[in-house]
Amino acid sequence: RIAYVNGQYVPVSKAMVHIEDRGYQFADGIYEVCTVVNGRYWDMEGHLARLDRSLRELQMDAPMDHAALRVVMKEVVRRNRLKNALVYMQVTRGVAPRNHAFPPEGTPPSLVITARRFNLNRGDALAESGVSVISHPDIRWGRVDIKTVGLLPNALAKQAASEAGAYEAFLVRDGYVTECSSSNAWIVDESGALVTHPKGNTILGGITRQTAIACAEELQIKVIERPFTLEEAKAAPEAFLTSATSFVTPVTAIDGVRIGSGKPGPVARRLREAYKARAA
Ligand code: PDD
Repeated sequence: RIAYVNGQYVPVSKAMVHIEDRGYQFADGIYEVCTVVNGRYWDMEGHLARLDRSLRELQMDAPMDHAALRVVMKEVVRRNRLKNALVYMQVTRGVAPRNHAFPPEGTPPSLVITARRFNLNRGDALAESGVSVISHPDIRWGRVDIKTVGLLPNALAKQAASEAGAYEAFLVRDGYVTECSSSNAWIVDESGALVTHPKGNTILGGITRQTAIACAEELQIKVIERPFTLEEAKAAPEAFLTSATSFVTPVTAIDGVRIGSGKPGPVARRLREAYKARAA
């Protein structure tokens, strides 16, 4: 595998970052994950726009402009000879002797881009069977709308899910489900409308969430952006999650409680089909 690291394409085994990189010492960095399906980037525009937003919110310099970034993103996929790929992009505030305050102006940001094979069949199989989730306290900081690499609470939640044999964790703050450890959470209400937590500082505004809203509008399915409780989710006819890597994946159990019939529901199915058709 080949990675792009600060201006060079290197084998992943030889790809290194400095021990005083601020990403390493302070999680002072941001990232994006996007997919390439049949050689085409999905939602690239949205991911680049969110990258810019994350940089802006943290007053971080962009490593390069969009045109250059697009070239590197495509080149990494090409050099790894991938048709279906999962691309990881990370920007940190760069290398400087450890000091909490920002390094001097002009310190170049670090940019790393990697790509690995994206198994579409696995996702389809999961969507076919549906996945189970657990609930887990949302102990994250106050700006989770910024896609930073500070993901320890997310990692702990995903680990708890994994130990429980579940695919994801519904994060709960004050009784309400905010989102999941690495995806957005949705339910379908009794009227067939989609319900998902509104954007703001307590969720990451998913790019797939945005595209799913557009798909729902095309399908004339109503979308209500409001918080929902864990109890409401457990009693909902359907639940599902969205992310760049899982698309739209039906949730068929929460904390062992069966959702709807215990099988993927029709609304989530339609939405997944529409998402795939739109992105392709
Ligand atoms: N995660 N919420 C959180 C906390 C996330 O980390 C992600 C993405 C999402 C969904 O966003 P999007 O639809 O733009 O992928 C929501 C990526 C996939 C990751 O960390 O691997």
